[in-house]
Amino acid sequence: MPKTPTFLMTDDSHFEVSYKINPWMTPEEWRRDEVKNRAEARHAAASLAEALRQTGARVVHIDGAPGLPDMVFPANAAVVLDRRVMAARFRYPERQGEERHFLEAFARLKDEGAFDDVSQMPKDYWQEGAGDAIFDANRQFFWTGFGPRSSFEAADVLRDFFNVPVKPLELVSGRFYHLDTCFVPLSGGEVLYYPQAFSKASLSVIRDHVAADKRIEASDEDAARFAVNAVNIGRDIVMAEPTAHLADELRERGYSVVPLRLRPFIMSGGGAYCMTLRLDLKSASATNRGE
Ligand code: ARG
Repeated sequence: MPKTPTFLMTDDSHFEVSYKINPWMTPEEWRRDEVKNRAEARHAAASLAEALRQTGARVVHIDGAPGLPDMVFPANAAVVLDRRVMAARFRYPERQGEERHFLEAFARLKDEGAFDDVSQMPKDYWQEGAGDAIFDANRQFFWTGFGPRSSFEAADVLRDFFNVPVKPLELVSGRFYHLDTCFVPLSGGEVLYYPQAFSKASLSVIRDHVAADKRIEASDEDAARFAVNAVNIGRDIVMAEPTAHLADELRERGYSVVPLRLRPFIMSGGGAYCMTLRLDLKSASATNRGE
């Protein structure tokens, strides 16, 4: 029996855009319409949780913390696979305070039986969780992002810890600073990605591993809408509103697209995927061992 897909989300009460650590964030713009932005954020986060539940997934919520607005992006807090957790090391001081809160949450979940092991990335590296380490179930490896937020070497730590191969991809554009902003593998073996975000060498790595008919290139418009930052569960894709062109292409390939209005979170540089952290992913070898 397949297990129920389970996602961690953080309560959005403390979310705001109060500092700038990526080009999408403009605190002045946020403040200009703060009440409306807050109200919309509340609505958007609830609609995401509801959309996940509609696909049959379970959503586990944790509390945020005052002064740590980006805790609403738990994808950055850890890499999780086979009941093992490698907690993040954030690049910017603005987010480093989140580490303690997420470690506490992961320890609690371990006590409740969700995990066997909770570790943290060694201090010498930056690594921003599942935002920069995306498990590809068809290919049985992690695609990892490096450059803006995660160290190149962190990929080796993940490989050794989870005992699965890694394919590091270099991110070269400041606007697409986490791998999940410009890359998502889909259940049918396709990869939806935004080519301009990658170095030439990394584009070759993608093309070496993903056949031409499985590569879906996102337009500038879809990338800017954070549609690539999508959550794929079976044939469902929960995503910030894509263009009609991308929605049609995904539907033609047999996916059911669940579009959401996530505007306040996009003002922080995040979409559906980064607002969640998948907790129940299993590698094929763990599944074969009966774990
Ligand atoms: N404001 C957050 C940051 O810059 C947004 C994080 C979005 N997360 C993601 N995985 N793309 O860190």
